Amino acid sequence: MRIAVTGGTGFVGTEVVRTLLLAGHELRVVGRGVRQAPLPDGLRLTFGDVVTGAGLDGAFAGADAVIHLTAIIRERGPQTFAAVNAQGTANAVDAAARAGVGRFVHLSALGVDPDPDFPYLASKWQGEQAVRASQMDWVILRSSVIFGPGDGFFRQLAGALRVPSPFLLIPGDGRARFQPIAVGDAARCLEAAVEEPARRHQVYEIGGPQHLTLEEIMRAVAAATGRDWFLFSPRRPLRLPVAALKPVAALMDRLLPNPPVTAQQLALLSRANATRLDAVPQAFGFDPMPLAAHLQTLGPQRRWPTAPASST
Ligand SMILES: NC(=O)c1ccc[n+]([C@@H]2O[C@H](COP(=O)([O-])OP(=O)(O)OC[C@H]3O[C@@H](n4cnc5c(N)ncnc54)[C@H](OP(=O)(O)O)[C@@H]3O)[C@@H](O)[C@H]2O)c1
Repeated sequence: MRIAVTGGTGFVGTEVVRTLLLAGHELRVVGRGVRQAPLPDGLRLTFGDVVTGAGLDGAFAGADAVIHLTAIIRERGPQTFAAVNAQGTANAVDAAARAGVGRFVHLSALGVDPDPDFPYLASKWQGEQAVRASQMDWVILRSSVIFGPGDGFFRQLAGALRVPSPFLLIPGDGRARFQPIAVGDAARCLEAAVEEPARRHQVYEIGGPQHLTLEEIMRAVAAATGRDWFLFSPRRPLRLPVAALKPVAALMDRLLPNPPVTAQQLALLSRANATRLDAVPQAFGFDPMPLAAHLQTLGPQRRWPTAPASST
């Protein structure tokens, strides 16, 4: 198939492009080129901005399908949730329909909700509405948090936990459940969604093989990155209400170019982000991989210092 992939230079997009190329598809990677991601040999970026709509008609011309992966999790200047995730998706849908694209596959998020108190989830919900209203053969996948090389969630968490501390600072009660899924497994689901006609007009929830609370994830990341040791081992959980942490996050957002967490992301951490454990095996026929293997790549496992080898 000829497939245009918006957000094809992003974390998920890079893996989706690799997966689809291996499956023999002809690809067009669509984005603004802000992200300088190296593309596989023979592919070059096709300009398309979902906010302004510039370039999308040309980028989708001649495509059999569009996989729409463009979205933001942090607002920056004109890149707001409303502009990128909601209106940007509507712009992509309109351009794809104008170009005569048959199939539109959209990656959404578990927990989408029109509630404006959760602006990211609300914008993803609005994006879904635009997709559902289209006359194309659309498919929507709602994913839990995705892990893999270059991911945002686990890298940020690992970065925050690298600061030695006697405490494990947990936003909320830490009991919200997540179901992390590997980026390669999410890409397999997207591939099936684009290739298999019977999946038209379906909404699939996808997640990995475990339900993990935020506290369990934080403990696992702390252990894997080697900072859960020595004087501070194990760290003592310090649960703070999200409302109390929000002003701190808002201040960091203003002061730091790359804050570890934004106020809006904090709010999301207290929301359940899980589906059925058998969701992927049932709908896509394979067992997704667990998080543990990936965590080992986040940092060296801390070992007690070993004595230098004796020379005698
Ligand atoms: N990562 C997760 O844990 C997770 C979980 C659930 C759902 N999802 C969904 O998965 C999708 C991909 O997420 P990701 O983590 O791969 O995001 P990402 O790494 O931040 O990638 C975003 C992509 O969108 C492009 N983009 C941003 N603004 C754009 C614009 N105005 N016009 C055109 N392209 C634009 C970026 O390239 P340029 O900036 O160069 O244009 C980049 O290629 C999103 O829809 C997200 O909601 C992700």
